[in-house]
Amino acid sequence: MERFFQIAIDGPAAAGKSTVAKILSKKLGFVYIDTGAMYRSLTYKAQKENKDLNDGAGLASLLEKTDIRLEYGENGQKVFVDGEDVTEPIRYPEVSAHVSLVSSFGEVRKEMVRRQRVLAESCDVVMDGRDIGTHVLPSAQVKIFLRASVDERAVRRFREEEQKGRHPSMESLRNAIALRDRKDMERAVSPLVKAEDAIEVDTTSLTIDEVVDKILDIVTKRRFR
Ligand code: DC
Repeated sequence: MERFFQIAIDGPAAAGKSTVAKILSKKLGFVYIDTGAMYRSLTYKAQKENKDLNDGAGLASLLEKTDIRLEYGENGQKVFVDGEDVTEPIRYPEVSAHVSLVSSFGEVRKEMVRRQRVLAESCDVVMDGRDIGTHVLPSAQVKIFLRASVDERAVRRFREEEQKGRHPSMESLRNAIALRDRKDMERAVSPLVKAEDAIEVDTTSLTIDEVVDKILDIVTKRRFR
């Protein structure tokens, strides 16, 4: 059976994973899989239906009945939950504030991981998240762990928010990022850790292009050796 090429990109919130993964996938002609968007989609639906976000079994059964689709077109990524375009709402602060809780349950993660592996079965992929190199795709040919200081990540989020016409305080962004880091790193099931064989890239003082070039270099060496 043909072995497809897998690039796993993990790291904390706002370290630049999705920006870098999108560019890489375009340059390489790979499919980009945004696993954070899948957890955000479930969080959005659970909130919309007033579900108890502390009930892991309830969330897992909601997920079973939920269709989550990631589509890529001219205008970038679109996310659909049961056919509804949720690309925008899954980025709202209300979803961001609760997605760590929803993603902390083993029952939820089991089904998400199953779906993510199915997506990676039939094509070359760049997949980003928190547990891709350690758990979802443990035999990925390239594993990258992106880091950046909390301050730098807050600045990046601030710029993104500004572009959307929102003006949050730096302080609130910094606190939200630090809190999400802690929740993602301290959860019992598949916490955010660097895989032993992942290559660490600190993006704090690098431009996006520099990060992409660094990873492309690593990919080229692994792909054609
Ligand atoms: O990458 P992101 O910020 O969109 O991810 C949203 C949340 O989903 C993040 O706080 C933790 C969770 N997540 C996860 O637990 N495992 C993944 N593979 C991806 C995201």
